[in-house]
Amino acid sequence: MIKEISAETLRKDFPIFERTIRGKKLVYLDNAATSQKPIQVISKIEEFYKMHNANIHRSVHLLSYEATVEYEEAHKKVARFINANSWQEIIFVRNATEGINLIAYSLGLNRLKEGDEIIIAISEHHSNLVPWQFVARKTGAKLKYIDINDDYTLSIDNYKKLLTERTKIVSVGHASNITGIINPVKEIVSLAKEVGAITIVDGAQGLPHLKVDVQDIGCDFYVGTGHKMCGPTGIGFVYGKKEILEEMEPFLYGGDMIDTVTTEGSTWNELPWKFEAGTANIAGGIGLGAAVDYLSSIGMENVEKIEREITAYALERLSSIKGIKLFTPNKVEGRLGVFSFVVDGVHPHDVAYILDREGVAIRSGHHCAQPLLNRIGADSGTARISTYIYNTKEDIDIAVEAIEKVKSVFKV
Ligand code: ALA
Repeated sequence: MIKEISAETLRKDFPIFERTIRGKKLVYLDNAATSQKPIQVISKIEEFYKMHNANIHRSVHLLSYEATVEYEEAHKKVARFINANSWQEIIFVRNATEGINLIAYSLGLNRLKEGDEIIIAISEHHSNLVPWQFVARKTGAKLKYIDINDDYTLSIDNYKKLLTERTKIVSVGHASNITGIINPVKEIVSLAKEVGAITIVDGAQGLPHLKVDVQDIGCDFYVGTGHKMCGPTGIGFVYGKKEILEEMEPFLYGGDMIDTVTTEGSTWNELPWKFEAGTANIAGGIGLGAAVDYLSSIGMENVEKIEREITAYALERLSSIKGIKLFTPNKVEGRLGVFSFVVDGVHPHDVAYILDREGVAIRSGHHCAQPLLNRIGADSGTARISTYIYNTKEDIDIAVEAIEKVKSVFKV
């Protein structure tokens, strides 16, 4: 029997939706900031602390063995989820920001020199922007930004003009957290390969929503974060091709990342542990594994289907509101359910405040992507609705009603 999967059925897996916000239904539309957590993930973390808690890779007792096996298994789950060639290519880190920093420090600082070039997109969130500004400043490399087209898509023509034999690193987001645009990462990677550049895809916004196959994309690195894909906060990962990771210097130094240590020096542990210094976020890693299990049980094709439906409905409803400007393409294909907008004459924080009074959680401000907001003429920030697998049409209807309320309160 085929299990019916819909936002309404999935919603029941998320205990937080049992609560109310000032007596009103919780309408959670801040998913680009973080997703809610299903009971399957919450229970797995609780079970770890109740039944198996111990440090990994250190002690011979049974608890330590169980914790080690579960933590390593979580790496294997992530590897299968993104179709990595080997689980040793998966390094657990705190979040996407730390993942990009790992690559920026270990590879960028060590390999780049004056005259080299790094290419990112103007649409990057700060996690995939500020570390490269740092690398450029330290090495003398030049940082270049791919521009966007009028429909908010990345300009591949502009990208082709920026690529030269001096391009050493190309690092792009899988999807924008402001416009929802999904970037053509396979094409971007393939063009970068023609000039021999290292390629990085920042999957913070892509992986929770899209079926990802890193071997098909062909990228050297793919970075993900657990908390936007039903997992806990404080855990993310870097996928890197084994031959490149083998050659890289470690990022952080200390316990667990070593093989031998003498007073003269140290040698490094095998992958991925060479990059996981100190006691890991063990429960977080196991929680991430549970999140991967959860999304896999739904099937990423179903996730995409459910999200396309709610995106189409939200686009239709939001674009029919008079007096708001949407910074998003007027189409359902090639984008996620992310809708940045301004209500004419009302500050985005006021919009978010009034929506919160109605039980609707959205984000307002610069969304950690200031250069893009400047580029699209939204310097004072926007309000942002972002959907996920548990959002229903009723959620969107309530949000639209609340935006109408904003207009009536501010008489605009
Ligand atoms: N980058 C995250 C967001 O878009 C935090 O809200």
